[in-house]
Amino acid sequence: MNADLLAQARHYEKTYGSRIAPEERPLFHVTPTVGWLNDPNGLSYYQGKYHLFYQYNPYNTHWASMHWGHLVSEDLIRWERLPAAMAPDKPYDNAGVFSGSALTLPDGRHLLMYTGVEEQKRDDGFIDSRQTQCIAFGDGLNYQKYERNPVITPEMLPEGSSTEDFRDPKIWWDEADRCFYAVMGSRTADGSGAVVLFRSGDALRWEYCSTLDRSRNQYGKMWECPDFFPLDGTDVLIVSPMEMLAEGLEFHNGNNAAYLTGRWDRHARTFERLELRALDYGLDFYAPQTLLTPDGRRVLIGWMQSPETGHSQPHDIKWFGQMTIPRELSVRSGRLLQRPVRELERYRGELVICRNVYVRERLCLPQVSGRCVDMTVRVRPAGGALYQKFTIKIAKDTEFYTAVTYDPGSSVLRFDRSHSGFRHNIVASRKALVRYQEGEIKLRFIIDRFSAEVFVNDGEQVMTSTLYTPQNADSISFEAEGSAIIDVEKYNLER
Ligand code: FRU
Repeated sequence: MNADLLAQARHYEKTYGSRIAPEERPLFHVTPTVGWLNDPNGLSYYQGKYHLFYQYNPYNTHWASMHWGHLVSEDLIRWERLPAAMAPDKPYDNAGVFSGSALTLPDGRHLLMYTGVEEQKRDDGFIDSRQTQCIAFGDGLNYQKYERNPVITPEMLPEGSSTEDFRDPKIWWDEADRCFYAVMGSRTADGSGAVVLFRSGDALRWEYCSTLDRSRNQYGKMWECPDFFPLDGTDVLIVSPMEMLAEGLEFHNGNNAAYLTGRWDRHARTFERLELRALDYGLDFYAPQTLLTPDGRRVLIGWMQSPETGHSQPHDIKWFGQMTIPRELSVRSGRLLQRPVRELERYRGELVICRNVYVRERLCLPQVSGRCVDMTVRVRPAGGALYQKFTIKIAKDTEFYTAVTYDPGSSVLRFDRSHSGFRHNIVASRKALVRYQEGEIKLRFIIDRFSAEVFVNDGEQVMTSTLYTPQNADSISFEAEGSAIIDVEKYNLER
């Protein structure tokens, strides 16, 4: 195989990555060194630093020839770029080093577990494609693929499982069972997705345990990028189901990300599902992965894009694809809450507070503007009457804006980027049904140049979307149909 592919990628990203000025990127949201980025991979804490890898095509801003890009951070907010970690340079991964995860082995090595995609052209011209699970060992900078790869093959799956759709291993060490477990996405005989569980004593030799849950053609087709962990007394399974049907205001993105709460029975190795819900209600969110921090927090990072919105590259951009802000997870009343990691607060600069502002029609507030901000807005009715609608416009000038509108009558929150400057025919608005609280709503906006993440009611829901609005559109306005009272707390985010 081509042993130089990694060296080539490292040379290319060093040459071209350095030509992208910091102002052309978000302040904190992760972007590829150069080219294309999709899923977060190998999110782990190794030798005193957080490591984040990503699905990476350095050579252009479209998905192709998957490598693993690599970054490290001390606080999950400021990331330092490292050279690409893996290239598709072995026969068993010649068509891509697909998504996977990482952990620290007892001997101190960093282990990466990923999906190798192998393609072979048949005599009749058709291409056979096969996905297997592979590993690599490293020191946090350089990684060697295991000489006995692959370590898990589709032949180890229950009968009828797809050999082409079997990917995205998430590995962890289970102290109670004293073994490694890994979950993977698979496609069962009914053509729809499932999460399969494997175990191993040494992370090299694996055996199939069970199928934790499956779509049965109810929740989309292939299930990608599973993750599985206990949290606040509940067991949580995360999946990214492809080709889902919408239900009410849920699951409108085709390829969605969902979480399943339930109970893990470690003796039977089964998972009993209680609920399945959407993880995000915005336009750009897919394939998240979590990590347990040394101080015991479960932190999630998602790809702030999705397979469907991954074709909306603005002109002249030298990078494409961003990660979400890392989010701390918790469970309350069976629901997953997401909040920006507390480390972000260290980067809060100047604060502007405006309390009890009476809003009727449109107004702007002094110094409440910007494209790198952490802003919390509480809206409530003024006096006895409920307002009809409340709208916050961000990334605004005379030409552009993105609107977030709450209608307390229907309890629907709408995100609309139709006028944000996209020049492609892409979906621009999304609605979420939020918990009704007599016209009161709390919205925290994390705006970082090319995106907005809106955390609703302390993270009960999140709407995540990219915005490629010119940076000088930095006004923020508030407007009510009827009248409302708001409190605004806005920090500039600074590096
Ligand atoms: C999810 C996904 C994964 C796969 C990777 C390939 O976005 O399709 O299932 O491993 O991307 O880049």
